[in-house]
Amino acid sequence: MCGVTQVAASRTASPSVRRKGLRNFKKNRILTAALDNDHPVSATEILPTHTAALFKTAVARAVELLRAGGVVALPTETVYGLAANALDARAVQRIFEIKGRPAHNPVIVHVAGLEMARRCAAQWPSPADTLAAAFWPGPLTLVLPRAKNIPDAVTAGGPTVGIRWPSHPFIQAVIRECGFPLAAPSANVSNGVSPTNALHVSRSLGGKISLIVDGGQSQVGIESTVLDLTANPPRVLRPGMIHAESLQAAMPGSTLAATDKNATDNAAPLRSPGRLPKHYSPRAKLLILSWSDDRDLRLRLKKLKLNLEKTHVIAHSMIPSGMEPARVNLIPHDAEAFARAIYAELHRCDDAGAECIIVEAIPDGPAWHAIADRLQRAAS
Ligand code: TXA
Ligand code: MG
Repeated sequence: MCGVTQVAASRTASPSVRRKGLRNFKKNRILTAALDNDHPVSATEILPTHTAALFKTAVARAVELLRAGGVVALPTETVYGLAANALDARAVQRIFEIKGRPAHNPVIVHVAGLEMARRCAAQWPSPADTLAAAFWPGPLTLVLPRAKNIPDAVTAGGPTVGIRWPSHPFIQAVIRECGFPLAAPSANVSNGVSPTNALHVSRSLGGKISLIVDGGQSQVGIESTVLDLTANPPRVLRPGMIHAESLQAAMPGSTLAATDKNATDNAAPLRSPGRLPKHYSPRAKLLILSWSDDRDLRLRLKKLKLNLEKTHVIAHSMIPSGMEPARVNLIPHDAEAFARAIYAELHRCDDAGAECIIVEAIPDGPAWHAIADRLQRAAS
């Protein structure tokens, strides 16, 4: 029988939120028991990392499970990842089962150092060196020709592999200690909003995995930029907080392909399934709106015939006042801070039972491009 042991409460949640999380775990039990016939999960441990001793204990536990072919949720600076040994096809297969992820969607391989990155690729073109020097460790994934030892399960049978050296010290320590790279998609059930703290992971996957490591709030907050270096010219497959202009500035010798905002490549394996329009969605319906003042917002909401009691507003500039009964969440008007907070706000609205989430329209400009991309996909 499956259950959850909250070894240490998440530092990011209030007691009432934690209680609700535990109730959700209980609902997951039957599904989990069916899923884990060959890998029984007796409890989901959540291990904290905020002292040197706790960090060390959590690294040791994660490494033990990963070496045994297990799947664990680990913090990264972008979003939390659901990790397994990238060189073990069976372990990677388990990630797909747990997430309910379609087999045609390749997963990113996480490394801790250039040498390990090079071992995952059959070729290492010079732009990879330039970009790695400029942006690694960090929120950039490079798509390169795959090395022979990378299993089909990772690449969805395709000829390329996505490689990233994350900057979060916890996942770096785990990879170094394991000595092998980790395949890791975002640690959520397929198509949901990516988790940016341990509580988000436990709500989505609690009872289905044996370990979640709590490494605090993810500091970037949205998924890495995915750059295809096997395309000529190189192409951004998924925008991220390292934007195309920064990549271009680091590669003065070559020109990046213009990003096709509406690319929904359906070839198998998908060029980058994160580009499918329906992705990263909260449970609630999401609408992007702008308004000039409270009165204007009230009129717009009325026109949309929304149930105001279940409508939440996420605003950064035109902060509604006295807009009962809709709930208002504030988010910073600064691209980096907005990215760090947006998924947590979407999770919060979902957890509060929102039927509709109104997000105030964001500014144009390169710094906002990836955020606009995620919001549009969440709204579609
Ligand atoms: O920030 C991130 O990238 C996070 C953390 C955990 O590292 N990971 C993440 O993984 O967002 P996932 O699986 O949710 O998204 C990976 C994206 C997908 O859009 C996938 O299609 C694309 O990267 N991808 C992975 N390997 C690829 C490849 N060989 N060719 C093209 N796209 C690839
Ligand atoms: Mg994902």
